[in-house]
Amino acid sequence: MTTNRGVFTRHEALGGWYNPVLVDPETIVAFAHSGACRRFVRRMFARLTPDAYSRYISEFRREGERKFGECWHYLDIVDVVAAAALLLQPVSYLEIGVRRGRSMATAAAAARKCALFGFDMWMADYAGMENPGPDFVRSELRRIGHSGTAEFVDGDSHVTLPKFFAGQPERKLSMVTVDGDHSDEGALQDLRDVLPRLDVGGVVIFDDISHPQHPNLRAIWRQAISEAPFPIRTHEYASLGYGVAFGIRVG
Ligand SMILES: C[S@@+](CC[C@H](N)C(=O)[O-])C[C@H]1O[C@@H](n2cnc3c(N)ncnc32)[C@H](O)[C@@H]1O
Repeated sequence: MTTNRGVFTRHEALGGWYNPVLVDPETIVAFAHSGACRRFVRRMFARLTPDAYSRYISEFRREGERKFGECWHYLDIVDVVAAAALLLQPVSYLEIGVRRGRSMATAAAAARKCALFGFDMWMADYAGMENPGPDFVRSELRRIGHSGTAEFVDGDSHVTLPKFFAGQPERKLSMVTVDGDHSDEGALQDLRDVLPRLDVGGVVIFDDISHPQHPNLRAIWRQAISEAPFPIRTHEYASLGYGVAFGIRVG
């Protein structure tokens, strides 16, 4: 097992009454709502190259924060990635569905030396938006000062991911984001491929659980978590935006 720094660290000195994982989903959510984390996300957005979608989200967030301050409990994938990575300082981060690298850059800005693994087929005009590819993502990572390794695998994740793991049977991951194929079967397959590779104390993030065009993703997420070979404690946010779910492996 690859034990992470900081709050992942096992506390053998405490004895064996509790499972040694210290961070629960509620802690990550509380931190995501903190002023420190909100400011970190704002600075992140400001440093990345904007597109129409990121401009829209930035404006949406600015309005929510301006009108409702710390009472505003909106969450999206970037809040969860930011809060989890700032708190847990992952040594490795794998993302399926990278697009322009917004979430990946967030993880990298929070944990600068983190080893990054990005899987995407960089579908042209994805959801009506440009999808410039891995060289663009690398340039975004340079903008935020990432100093760890970054490996990108181009192609259908249902082919590339099993191949990647077959070549690295011992590979465990501190953080994983699943945001690629949004079909029911495809999303379930991606979750099934990555969940067994989650380290103890590691975090898995799944986007769009309340997306109107993908109405089954919440059920898919629950199914995959219930099938995981170890306990994962979860949180779901489905109130505004397209929703996001995440879980922490606790045993
Ligand atoms: C929603 S975007 C990812 C957004 C990104 N996670 C973020 O936070 O900004 C989805 C991406 O998944 C990719 N994708 C869709 N199906 C895929 C598949 N079967 N294999 C690999 N990538 C896929 C698309 O090319 C697209 O770039």
